Amino acid sequence: MQNLLKNGIAITGSGSAVPSTSLENEVLTQLVETSDEWITTRTGIRQRQLALPPESLTILATDASKQAITAAGITAADIDLILLATSTPDDLFGSACRIQAELDATKAVAFDLTAACSGFLFGLVTAAQFIRTGVYQNVLLIGADILSRWVDWQDRRTCVLFGDGAGAVILQANNSDRLLGFSLKSDGTQNHHLNLAYEGTTQQVTPDIHVPRGTYHPISMNGKEVYRFAVQKVPEVIDKALFEAHLTVDRIDWLILHQANQRIINAVADRLNIPDHKVISNVAHYGNTSAASIPLALDEAVRQGKIKPNDIIATSGFGAGLSWGAAIFQWAR
Ligand code: UT7
Repeated sequence: MQNLLKNGIAITGSGSAVPSTSLENEVLTQLVETSDEWITTRTGIRQRQLALPPESLTILATDASKQAITAAGITAADIDLILLATSTPDDLFGSACRIQAELDATKAVAFDLTAACSGFLFGLVTAAQFIRTGVYQNVLLIGADILSRWVDWQDRRTCVLFGDGAGAVILQANNSDRLLGFSLKSDGTQNHHLNLAYEGTTQQVTPDIHVPRGTYHPISMNGKEVYRFAVQKVPEVIDKALFEAHLTVDRIDWLILHQANQRIINAVADRLNIPDHKVISNVAHYGNTSAASIPLALDEAVRQGKIKPNDIIATSGFGAGLSWGAAIFQWAR
């Protein structure tokens, strides 16, 4: 440990990457009984990008990370910690170390963090603790997922929703603290509403001992329950984070929610009385990219010149666990 003085945190750069293959709603109508009209009106999604080999989570995450590193004006050699928020690593032992190697971030310790669609939020707060305690100065936080690998493409309740992508940010120690407030929540009693559950077939070790050979079931979701949960809990947790930040809702410049469904985004903004022009959304283009959705939306808004230094951003992630959380931060140094 280098010192125990508290440090502030600033998010100083962002990047994002999506795979090159797009799949439009109309194509899904050939797979399952659905329509472009149903998908668009119920979710706001028009298309999504899918990762096909040789594209991989490591490649997408590395591309996004390189952009974030450049935007922050540092080099990979400056990074102390790489946190990869994902539920779909290329390697179940974790993909963060591969990304460290691809970036040549030789000084950095790297590990994965799993919190489904809340992963970026949970990663943001985790990264912040290492900086606040003075242990690390430069952290690369990546949110990346390839859920298309785990979707049952015959299940219309889920296959129309998800897409693949990666987003990344650099967090740096800073004189003033730009992470103004946060709140994180979990409720495992509701776990059954959204799963990507382990499934064991059998393999024989000895005539008497059979152990499971692991794989996973496709994603299963009770959409109605998760919808209800999101619309109730997300405004509450944003209010809590605002309270921690000593701010009122009118101080928010931008609302960036996990991009699961345009109706959820609209309902949360309505409940908080946040006008449309402050709400960032790209769910129409990418669908639900899980841990990638918030940094992907953030990066696009920064590159479009919408988000400017000092703007106050309220962000919230929610999903499997069930887990949810919110953070209020001020962009850049
Ligand atoms: O990232 C993790 C967090 N996940 C979420 O936040 C997802 C939250 N849930 C949702 O976004 C929405 O619940 C969905 C988009 C998943 C579903 O929308 P909904 O308005 O809640 O629809 P529903 O589940 O109530 O289904 C309405 C009808 C049903 O038919 P019946 O029973 O009324 O005859 C479904 O069988 O729509 C049917 N349906 C479909 N129809 C055409 C379900 N999926 C489809 C489909 N195409 N793809």
